[in-house]
Amino acid sequence: MKTIFSGIQPSGIPTIGNYIGAMKQFIALQDDYDCYFCVVDEHAITVPQDRLKLRKQILDLAALYVAIGLDPNKAAIFIQSEVSAHAEAAWIVQCHTTIGELERMTQFKDKAQQQAKQGVTAGLLTYPPLMVADIILYDTDLVPVGEDQKQHLELTRDFVDRFNQRYAQKGQTLLTKPEVKIPEHGARIMSLQDPTKKMSKSDTNQKGFVSMADTPDAIRKKIKSAVTDSSGTIEYDVENKPGISNLLTIFSAMTGKSIAELAETYRDSGYGTFKADLAEAIIDVLEPIQTKQAALLASGELDAILDAGAEKATMKANRTLKRMQNAVGLGRKRS
Ligand code: TYM
Repeated sequence: MKTIFSGIQPSGIPTIGNYIGAMKQFIALQDDYDCYFCVVDEHAITVPQDRLKLRKQILDLAALYVAIGLDPNKAAIFIQSEVSAHAEAAWIVQCHTTIGELERMTQFKDKAQQQAKQGVTAGLLTYPPLMVADIILYDTDLVPVGEDQKQHLELTRDFVDRFNQRYAQKGQTLLTKPEVKIPEHGARIMSLQDPTKKMSKSDTNQKGFVSMADTPDAIRKKIKSAVTDSSGTIEYDVENKPGISNLLTIFSAMTGKSIAELAETYRDSGYGTFKADLAEAIIDVLEPIQTKQAALLASGELDAILDAGAEKATMKANRTLKRMQNAVGLGRKRS
């Protein structure tokens, strides 16, 4: 069975962008792959976090993984910092990656700009090698992510080639080269307030995103105030109507109806009706997830799920880490 790894940062409450771009893929793929879904908390501290908020967000995200429909009996659901191989492998990856490669990462450039005042941490620069480590430790074949992670996946594939070329013994599969899986629609959900910008859980403008924890009222208000245009027609045209096109993409992802079908249905309605129906479609998806998530957090069952996930992940990750250490010549040779 082929293997999937993916992760989400607990750096805020996930948005419907994370849900559509990443989580929906996780659910669709979990039956056909050996899956590892990680709460990547070590990635979150590359920018300043409030300690107590971070703890809460880690557990909330773990519970959300289960609430959206991931089955902990099939997929390992775990917290990155509870599997120490991630940080250890990341060091080896860093020592085989140039600063130039890392400075070229667009996400680094964006975040470094945002952090310029407080000071850019070395962790922000070496974030991609940690992500490379996350992926390679599980002999991952496929990584379902949104479009913004494509460049990090390219770095991962380049690293694997380089590492294997340098260290693999004849006939040995040292590291597995992963493929990226980006959804056909919804790979880049845009901000509700600025449809030229990606929807982000760390946006300081709350109106720019719908979070997975938003109340029905908040969802209605945010969708109502989403930026559109003055033409009044509902058409999918990313260049000339980015706001409406983004809303159509969200609507389609939330209902399973095609964009063409939705555009046809709402052709003669105004933006008001379209937005009101879209808000209800989002609420219909989010409400049961929120109920399940709250019940899980209250039940105390999460600890057992995360313990089992970390145990399964540790077993797999340690084997790859040992292979990497042996390849490089670290420590004493052990199998
Ligand atoms: P993060 O936490 O920013 O986002 C989690 C996932 O959601 C996707 N995503 C989106 N998809 C569509 N539209 C959007 N507006 C949108 N915003 C986010 C992201 O592409 C991602 O799939 N570096 C990663 C976390 C990570 C990871 C990994 C992912 C760490 N290690 C290993 C895969 C494999 C990140 O910051 O995701």
